[in-house]
Amino acid sequence: MRFEFRALPARVLFGAGRRRETPELARQLGCTRPLIISTPEQKDLADAIASLFSEARAHVFSEAAMHTPWNVTSRALAVAQGTGADSLIAVGGGSAIGLAKALALRTGLPQIALPTTYAGSEVTPIIGETQDGEKRTRRTLDVLPEAVIYDVDLTLTLPARLSAMSGLNAMAHAVEALYAVDANPVTSIMAEQGIAALAAALPEILANPASRDARSRAQYGAWLCGTCLGSVGMALHHKVCHVLGGTFDLPHADTHAIMLAHVVAYQAGAAPHAMRRIARALGADDAWTGLHALGTRLHVPRSLAEIGMPHEGIGRAAELVLRETYANPRTPDHDSIRAMLERAWRGAAPQPDAL
Ligand SMILES: [Fe+2]
Repeated sequence: MRFEFRALPARVLFGAGRRRETPELARQLGCTRPLIISTPEQKDLADAIASLFSEARAHVFSEAAMHTPWNVTSRALAVAQGTGADSLIAVGGGSAIGLAKALALRTGLPQIALPTTYAGSEVTPIIGETQDGEKRTRRTLDVLPEAVIYDVDLTLTLPARLSAMSGLNAMAHAVEALYAVDANPVTSIMAEQGIAALAAALPEILANPASRDARSRAQYGAWLCGTCLGSVGMALHHKVCHVLGGTFDLPHADTHAIMLAHVVAYQAGAAPHAMRRIARALGADDAWTGLHALGTRLHVPRSLAEIGMPHEGIGRAAELVLRETYANPRTPDHDSIRAMLERAWRGAAPQPDAL
């Protein structure tokens, strides 16, 4: 064996009701005047966290938006400075957590994250920001939250469908972590457990959205999958989704949900060990059939056609995928990428061609 493992410095508190420990956790970080960050939709939740702090020392900024636009970040920076904030508390999904990271990057303030989705970005040192319509992604420990509180009660209002999409998005990180160029035994254990936890919990959430048990297990899986994303590099699936989303303006979560089983089938011959672990986590005969079946159970869209991808775009997408350079277990070529995209466009079953 030969590998490198780097643990990310973060503290994780897991358990129902633990959001109430936020002020004590902040105090342990030396902080008493947080700026609490949310989207406009989750302002009530942000206010509720603020009310846990004594003497109205917490302020709320509730303008977080998707893709972390720079104009929102600069407004929030002014508020953080104006209120003398000594810490940042993100309450929400990717938008709130993204904004807190953007502020931490510029101010060095410590962060606590209270996630309300299963996306996992609260445990990654990754930040994506947009300015003048351009998205820039960076990886730096400066944006990693110091502490995360996983309180299942905060996820109970996430609609079942969004829960499924958010969980699948997280699962894609664990799947790619298993065949990452820098995969290591410890990340792989987390990846397999993360896939298994989400695969079992997501259908239960769909059947019973009020199940705190299922949501708690999904949250556990989300944490593991997010940690995988924070630790090792992503591969072909993320490149394909990035190209499809950017070129044809396809919805991010749907694109991921449709493509994952197809990309896994594409990698099959080049990453047999990862395939066995994914299959085992899903309790399926093989990885791609298991992922495809899970998508069907979760009622996610089945074809690129139904989410608005033009058929004539397939060739261009294949070209763009090949233009990018990144590590991947199988070296992609135009014909095979095209064939995979064609199957995904039609909503056909995923199919490995090297077996
Ligand atoms: Fe991702």
